Amino acid sequence: MSSQLLKGKKGIIFGALDERSIAWKTAQSAVANGAQIVLTNAPIALRMGKINELAKECNAEVIGADATSDADLDNLMQKSMEILGGKVDFILHSIGMSPNVRKSIPYTNTNHENFLKTLDISALSLHRVLQAAMKADAINEWGSVVALSYIAAQRTFPGYNDMADAKAVLESIARSFGYHYGFAKKVRVNTVSQSPTVTTAGSGVSGFDVFYDYAEKMSPLGNASAEACADFCTMLFSDFTRMLTMQNLFHDGGFSNTGVSARIIEDMQKAAGQQ
Ligand SMILES: NC(=O)c1ccc[n+]([C@@H]2O[C@H](COP(=O)([O-])OP(=O)(O)OC[C@H]3O[C@@H](n4cnc5c(N)ncnc54)[C@H](O)[C@@H]3O)[C@@H](O)[C@H]2O)c1
Repeated sequence: MSSQLLKGKKGIIFGALDERSIAWKTAQSAVANGAQIVLTNAPIALRMGKINELAKECNAEVIGADATSDADLDNLMQKSMEILGGKVDFILHSIGMSPNVRKSIPYTNTNHENFLKTLDISALSLHRVLQAAMKADAINEWGSVVALSYIAAQRTFPGYNDMADAKAVLESIARSFGYHYGFAKKVRVNTVSQSPTVTTAGSGVSGFDVFYDYAEKMSPLGNASAEACADFCTMLFSDFTRMLTMQNLFHDGGFSNTGVSARIIEDMQKAAGQQ
């Protein structure tokens, strides 16, 4: 979707690993809508992923930064302002990783060292990014910071493991920092709670395929795609949403407000008939 909604705006996009990444699609959407961007990801992801392809397509520079390193984030803010020729108008935080999910360690018998890493990478990193940006005064007034979340922050989805707790912290940081950054600089901070999406991080959650199918059948509009999420983020970066801050916005085809759907009932009736 292209409408030049971000004409003249500059931004930093975290988390584009490959063409399935929500951040990848958001970079494409932002640039198609007139933005100039810097891409960033963890050094290991720069080596393993395909970010240089995206950088070429988006005419963007890539700066490595581990989102758990304050020094890396300070460097990212300074270099981004040098490259873009001034402060930025938007930042996308599209970062998630749980060593416990990766190693299939059950929630009730967790490894707490891993748990701390999950929280640091997937939640505290938003605080670190916002703190680094505020310290460097890197975001223009009325700028917009968006982080990606999931409904497991509000309701229990057992396969999501400690990422559920990380998302709850992430959403809380968006509210808390949004308060401070709003009063200090009129900077907006929101989270987008996205449908299950086929990506490297998404598919790592146990039972993802079944769950993806379930959410598709539960949601009146179906699961929101990564492309639709990207367009929604572009809108949130734009001036059309300038009074929106400290919110968690469900971008999920209606899943969050559906108790049960006729399609799920039919599936259960069929399954009962087969027994
Ligand atoms: N895929 C889904 O089903 C889904 C649903 C709701 C929300 N989300 C959220 O969307 C965001 C993006 O995930 P995705 O689905 O596009 O998967 P993805 O695997 O493409 O993206 C995750 C990104 O996090 C980056 N990352 C991990 N550790 C990092 C670190 N220390 N420093 C900097 N970057 C780091 C990875 O390199 C990767 O680019 C995540 O926050 C995820 O939890 C995903």
